[in-house]
Amino acid sequence: MKKLWKNCHIATMQAGQYSSIENAAIVTLGQQIHWIGTFKDLPADAYAETIDLNGAWVTPGLIDCHTHSVFGGNRSVEFEKRLQGVSYAEIAASGGGIASTVRATREASEEQLLASALKRIRCLLKDGVTTIEIKSGYGLDYANERKMLRVIRQIAETLPMTVRSTCLAAHALPPEYQDQSDAYIEHICNDMLPKLHQEGLVDAVDAFCEYLAFSPAQVERVFKTAQSLNLPIKLHAEQLSSLGGSSLAARYQALSADHLEFMTEDDVKAMAAAGTVAVLLPGAFYFLRETKYPPLESLQQHGVRIALSSDLNPGTSPALSLRLMMNMGSTLFRLTPEQTLAAVTIHAAHALGLQETHGSLEQGKVADFVAWDIEHPSEIVYWLGGDLPKRIIQHGNEVSI
Ligand code: NIG
Ligand code: FE
Repeated sequence: MKKLWKNCHIATMQAGQYSSIENAAIVTLGQQIHWIGTFKDLPADAYAETIDLNGAWVTPGLIDCHTHSVFGGNRSVEFEKRLQGVSYAEIAASGGGIASTVRATREASEEQLLASALKRIRCLLKDGVTTIEIKSGYGLDYANERKMLRVIRQIAETLPMTVRSTCLAAHALPPEYQDQSDAYIEHICNDMLPKLHQEGLVDAVDAFCEYLAFSPAQVERVFKTAQSLNLPIKLHAEQLSSLGGSSLAARYQALSADHLEFMTEDDVKAMAAAGTVAVLLPGAFYFLRETKYPPLESLQQHGVRIALSSDLNPGTSPALSLRLMMNMGSTLFRLTPEQTLAAVTIHAAHALGLQETHGSLEQGKVADFVAWDIEHPSEIVYWLGGDLPKRIIQHGNEVSI
């Protein structure tokens, strides 16, 4: 069924730029964009429906390419402790941090995890997010990682969003494997990952390369397994220290390396050569009161694509608005509004391997877009929180929000 969406201006985000089309129209056919251009060039045709967008600015649906939005409990008590001066690493070393969310997640049923995650993800959807990546990583054993990944698949069936699931079993050491991190990595590589993949629950593989998590050598074992299963790779790298995880990720043609505050010039060059996307997470940067900035200038100089994401998680970024993250990306990391918008559309699509179908408005791509009641696209980045008036269209259908 052909629908005509008329009376709008479009930031197509093709090639990472606004690429504006003023006085434009979009024709959707089923789930796809059939035609896009200026209204005066619209080919004569019959439309089942014509929708007047009242002069709105249309952007691609936003893409949140790094979240841990399925979890039990929350960590507001730790937040209070951190404000009193205890560090994230100290809390982790004393049995809190990720380990406390693992306990709460293991205790929760699939139904409970689904219900709490849906509440959070609905906030993102209302903010204009039509594609989301969600990681496991708070189960840390086969049954509980499976439980998380099944919940992620159920989210995809429940909400009008494209959902990608990433297995992050190598997020932290589970208590059963205390002092045996190599054995846990072997368990992931020999048992968990192949089984979870065989059950169709995994779209990509991630790990946490950090002194308080896993070493580059251990992460490489996980990458080798992912490669043998033909699964794309992502990595939490250089968040708290510099271990060269982002260079390792680049060597394995990772889709993205994420966080990156402590990356070196060599890491930047390696990522540029591999086309690995740099996913920056201003929510975690802010919430941990980080003072070391990711090397923005160097990333840009070497032409590394920069994506931004919420990192929605209970410990380092309880962020329920991607627009707020966009403002922080601009204000803290000095990305221009245009770069920021690219960072949550086309570059985020690259970070998920979805660039052929998502992330920009072009003929043949999915009809995921947001019609914002604003004067200029920079307003999406400018306002701090709140609810910007908008209409959300996912796969050619308007979402009721
Ligand atoms: O992206 N860095 C590791 N993982 C998460 C934090 C997880 C947690 O603290 O629960 C992150 O910041
Ligand atoms: Fe993360």
